[in-house]
Amino acid sequence: MTNKYMYFVANWKMFGDLGTLNTLNKVITFVNKIKKNKFKLIYCPPSTLIYPLAKMLKKTSIEIGAQNCHESENNGAHTGQLNAMMLKDVGAKYVILGHSENRQSGENDRLINLKIRSAIKSGLKVIFCIGETLSEKRKKITKKILAQQISKGLNKIKNRKGILIAYEPVWAIGSGLIPEQSELIDTIDYIKGKVKGFKVLYGGSVNPKNINNLKNINSIDGFLIGGASQVPNNFIDIIKKTYN
Ligand code: PGA
Repeated sequence: MTNKYMYFVANWKMFGDLGTLNTLNKVITFVNKIKKNKFKLIYCPPSTLIYPLAKMLKKTSIEIGAQNCHESENNGAHTGQLNAMMLKDVGAKYVILGHSENRQSGENDRLINLKIRSAIKSGLKVIFCIGETLSEKRKKITKKILAQQISKGLNKIKNRKGILIAYEPVWAIGSGLIPEQSELIDTIDYIKGKVKGFKVLYGGSVNPKNINNLKNINSIDGFLIGGASQVPNNFIDIIKKTYN
């Protein structure tokens, strides 16, 4: 059990349409019953749902994040892209950057660094994802990889107040696997040693079963949740179990 202030971030990825938003009424009712300062809930839906969701969540403590943004804070000829200012304009307060699914489709540390800078300049808070692949884990170079992602991703960024780190081992995302407890404690401590004062979330296959183990790791400041966040009962269960 924990009494700590925790972040629960729902990453819907490329799932969800207008009809799906109704399923959130359950979560809103649940959150409204609880003391507001106990935790922070952040929903990161596809960009098409940010505006309607912002309207729906107006009178709640739940906040909204986007799942990516363009590296330029200015408008321009970038077909199909959205910048941080546009996302903020329709109701986003956060943006997920550096997610491994985007790293795998070509985003490198330099680009992620530009995106983080642009998001901060535009007034968004950043959920900055880092994590090693399975082959990097097998080669025992996890810490080296994390150190690189952190130093390159945060290069020359002085205003770091609005940045949360999400440690997401790539092999744990959507696989049902999570790191051994001792390994996870060691890795989170390592990250916290590198970026003093940062909140560090864990992400990768968090579900209503394994939350009972994960919540016992005191250094974790919250969770970035994909699959399980799309089922309101599972998401509520994860939050309830964290505090029970
Ligand atoms: P998962 O996704 O919870 O479905 O593993 C987490 C994420 O990709 O952020």
